[in-house]
Amino acid sequence: MKNKIYYGDNLDVLRRYIKDESVDLCYIDPPFNSKRNYNQIYNNVGKEDSAQAQAFIDTWTWDDIATQGLTEIKSNYNGVFTEQSIDLITWLEKVLKKGALLAYLVSMTLRIAEIHRVLKPTGSFYFHCDPTASHYLKLVLDAIFCVRGGDYINEIVWKRSYGHGDSKKSMGRNHDVVFYYIKNTNKYFLNRFYHTHDEKYINSFFKHNDERGLYKLENLTSPSPRPNLTYEYKGYPSPDKGWRVKLERMQELDRDDRLHFPAKKNGRIMKKVYLHELEGQPMTDIWVDINPLSAHDAERLGYPTQKPEALLERIIKASSNEGNIVLDAYCGCGTTVAVANRLNRQWIGIDITYQSISLILKRLTEHDKSLLDTIEINGVPKDINSAIALANKSDDRTRKEFEKWMVLTYSNNYAMINEKKGGDGGIDGMAYIPDRDDKGELENKKVLFSVKSNVKLSPTVIRDLNGTIERDNAACGILLTLYPMPNLVKECKQYGFYHNALINKDYPKIQVVCVDELFNGVRLELPNVVKVLKKAEQHAEQVSLF
Ligand SMILES: C[S@@+](CC[C@H](N)C(=O)[O-])C[C@H]1O[C@@H](n2cnc3c(N)ncnc32)[C@H](O)[C@@H]1O
Repeated sequence: MKNKIYYGDNLDVLRRYIKDESVDLCYIDPPFNSKRNYNQIYNNVGKEDSAQAQAFIDTWTWDDIATQGLTEIKSNYNGVFTEQSIDLITWLEKVLKKGALLAYLVSMTLRIAEIHRVLKPTGSFYFHCDPTASHYLKLVLDAIFCVRGGDYINEIVWKRSYGHGDSKKSMGRNHDVVFYYIKNTNKYFLNRFYHTHDEKYINSFFKHNDERGLYKLENLTSPSPRPNLTYEYKGYPSPDKGWRVKLERMQELDRDDRLHFPAKKNGRIMKKVYLHELEGQPMTDIWVDINPLSAHDAERLGYPTQKPEALLERIIKASSNEGNIVLDAYCGCGTTVAVANRLNRQWIGIDITYQSISLILKRLTEHDKSLLDTIEINGVPKDINSAIALANKSDDRTRKEFEKWMVLTYSNNYAMINEKKGGDGGIDGMAYIPDRDDKGELENKKVLFSVKSNVKLSPTVIRDLNGTIERDNAACGILLTLYPMPNLVKECKQYGFYHNALINKDYPKIQVVCVDELFNGVRLELPNVVKVLKKAEQHAEQVSLF
């Protein structure tokens, strides 16, 4: 199987493309109902250090989509809902009424039921959320997983930030919750993992040191009476209940210099346990040893709510093996798929925004272009009809997707998305190129992108774009259109050229590029365009956790 990326709504993708019982592990990190919108951060732009554009929204309202979802659950669409999940949502409708929270829970229920369908009987599901709605989500998960032979295994608490109070009237909200469910209690597996020991534990227990390293002392006294293990060793009397080990084992430990003999003969012999020989603390459901990503972390790509690779590495190693299929239905900038790829798992990633899809492709192929041959990319327009379909999407949440796709594809990810379109002369994206100003000083000049999906356009569009170029003292502008516009191509000519003083070369001041040309591989061709996305750090496998 080729690894797969789907650009689209995961509900639609799951229903249409992901087969029953085909996935070994699914991790999702959906919006948490945080009542916030999340922005992608860009670097190196213009005079500012960074800029941002909305990547995805996490505000919910009771709308037509929610109404349709509720109907689908109540009518057991495709037979994926359990009786308990239908009853639960019907009851929640009564309790919560039709508002933001119910809209969120309906959206999650629809998707969790599909994820349950696509999991193999041996499969595991990790649902990453936070305490905002985790108490409701657990009910939904129980109602879908626990009544069909599956089970709830753990609530993992991940310390996702360093202590700070959100406000004076609440305690610092520092943890996320990851629910771990399995599809079949008799068939699932969990690979053992270890946490790294924390400093406090090391300092309080590993107080001894010899040429081998730091060690702690472990009791060799038997907890229950062992008359057959009662013997004196090198003049040290047996404890009342006997030793934990037979005489031969005691001698073996002694020969290997792993016994600690107290100065007084009435003391107890102890075993030396070396820190470097321990794998760590056996797995627990409190994860404080995986650091959150800081603003300047090398791993950070500027995508909001990006999770650390170490977190996904632990989950993927715990609940999958090499060659298994890992699914992330809300894959953001692709942390799950990048780690799955590195750990030789097969993977499927789904996301609804093109910023995410373009970032994932960049992240995966930046260090190895040949990886592109191993990935099947679905849902990204490949012909004029699919481009028209994207341009005509009516969902408010995906409204600007066509513009994003055109700007990011044409600019090869060198442009950033412009959010302030209304007050910004119809500009959908911006790139930057180095130039010299009138005084000969180095400066980054803007390249403006405007996207139009109209069937017909009059030359005033070009005039307006020129006006914005002049107003912003930008270098040049590119009009990206859904349909060919020969009249506008002609119109552009009269605006002449932009001269780049740094390399002493002329470029058309305004260009018109249509979707067809994009499909034929036409891309932005300007000198030294500034990178606005952070480079993905190449990760070596972290061996410490297993
Ligand atoms: C919290 S982010 C995931 C971050 C990710 N774990 C990472 O490390 O980059 C949630 C993602 O879900 C995507 N999303 C939201 N609703 C979606 C839907 N219905 N279908 C597919 N993706 C969706 C958003 O675009 C966003 O990228």
